[in-house]
Order: sequence, then structure tokens, then C-alpha cells
Amino acid sequence: MNPVAAEGAPVREIKVIGVGAGSPGHLTQEAIAALRAVDVFLVADKGSVKDELVAVRRAICEEFIDGIEGEDYRFLTVPDPVRGPDAERNDTAYASGVADWHAARADRYAEVIAALPTHDVVGFLVWGDPAFYDSTIRVVDAIGERLPISTHVVPGISAFQVLAAAHGIVMHAVGQPVHITTGRRLMAEWSPDLGAVVVMLDGHLACQGLVERAPDLTIHWGAYLGLPQQTLRSGQLADVINEIVAVRAELRAEHGWLMDVYLLSPT
Ligand SMILES: C[S@@+](CC[C@H](N)C(=O)[O-])C[C@H]1O[C@@H](n2cnc3c(N)ncnc32)[C@H](O)[C@@H]1O
Repeated sequence: MNPVAAEGAPVREIKVIGVGAGSPGHLTQEAIAALRAVDVFLVADKGSVKDELVAVRRAICEEFIDGIEGEDYRFLTVPDPVRGPDAERNDTAYASGVADWHAARADRYAEVIAALPTHDVVGFLVWGDPAFYDSTIRVVDAIGERLPISTHVVPGISAFQVLAAAHGIVMHAVGQPVHITTGRRLMAEWSPDLGAVVVMLDGHLACQGLVERAPDLTIHWGAYLGLPQQTLRSGQLADVINEIVAVRAELRAEHGWLMDVYLLSPT
């Protein structure tokens, strides 16, 4: 339960639902039950390149809600505030840029939610699991500072879990840790002591910078995991990196967008 922002105002029910990384098969029973309880799904409108991701969310609702007696829902797209040029920012500017963007998003959502009938249950469909590299929970917390809300978070299958399953591997050596990071931080953070490293949000395949330092690392790479165009590659970093770079460029050109994640592990 979030702090009540305005005394006496109705408490809005919000469900943050992890829907897995692309396949309808990733949805848990808990996620399906939560979907069916939602009246209005709020979806960020991020422009045409991400249309396919909105389409996947719609397909999930069609598959799991449509045709169920008494269940009705609608989608409301909310234009996303413009986000600054992350790649050119240092860490401090990046963090404050993201905070401003979350606040702008929260303002917009709070306005939309306040205009809905008070008993409408609001849903956010979150790609993968809401706990990893997703701002929805932070934005919903910020909505809670503007409106009284009650929040229910449903976990989902994260992209890195699908990556491990698709390759049929355990990510770490027996009893060892897994470090999860972003492409932005990989070069500064990587050391042989880290062991297994999962890299998400890497638009530039930052691991290319490790080829000279650690050519023997094993990479397990996957794009569009759980989607029909799922593509996998694995091998020693120095042996397969050029192929991954080429395949990635071809896939991006073919589909207009790309999401990938990879694991680097000591051989
Ligand atoms: C904004 S983060 C969201 C992560 C999500 N919450 C999760 O738990 O998977 C997006 C990143 O997740 C990874 N990702 C998400 N879905 C993916 C998929 N189907 N295939 C490959 N990578 C994916 C990519 O690294 C992408 O850059």
C-alpha cells in the first residue's frame, strides 16, 4: 500500500504485471488472473519502432482475456515524455535525466488515472520481470505521491532466464554468483573475479571491448527471446563476436528493432 497523497480521495488500484519476455507462454497463472482483473491498461506510446512491443501486449490480452465472460478492458496509450541523449551523459547527468523523465511520466499517468472512473483497476504490462531494468515500479511509486493508490506487483519471467533456458545452461559455476549489468557499465565493471556476467540494455555490444583482454570468455547470446524470430549464438568470445555483430546488424535491418541479452562466463 502506498502513502495516501490526498486525504479522502479514492484509492486507485494498480496492478504491475510482469508478462515475460515475448512469448504468451511466459505468463504465470498469477499474471493471467491479474490481467483479467484489469479494466484499463496504460501503455506508453514510444513511437513507431516500438509498435511491435505494444502489439505483443495487445496479443497477450486478446489471448488471455478476450472471450472470458464478463471481462472487459481497454488500452489507453499515453505519449511518453521525450528522454534526453543518455549515451552522451555521464553517470550523474544520466541519473538526474532519468529521474526527471520518471517525474514527467508520473505526472502524465496520474492525470490520466485521476480522470478514470474510481473503481477502474489500472494495469501496467511490464516486459520480462518488473524488478529488472524497468521503471514502472518507480513511476507507480511516484504516482502514489500524487494520488492515493494501492499497488500489486506480479513477477514475470525475465529475458535472462529465457536466455539460459534457450541455451540449456546454468548461468554460474556451482555456488558462484551472477552479476547483472548493462552495456553502459560493462567495460568499467568487468574483471575476471566477477564470474558470470549478464549484460542487458546493450545497444552497441560492449563486450567487443573485452575481446583482447579476455578472448577465452564464453558468450551465450540471444535476440528476440521467446518471439518467433528468436536467434541464438554461443562460443568463445574471440571466435564468435564478429558473427554476432553481423547477425545483429542483419536482424536489426530486417525487423527495424532488436532486443538482445548475453551472458559472459569464464571458460
Ligand atoms: C528495459 S530492459 C527490460 C528487462 C525486463 N524487465 C526483463 O526482466 O527482461 C530491456 C532489455 O532486456 C533485454 N530483453 C528483454 N526482452 C528480451 C527478449 N525477448 N530477447 C532478448 N533480450 C531481451 C534486453 O537486454 C533489453 O535491452
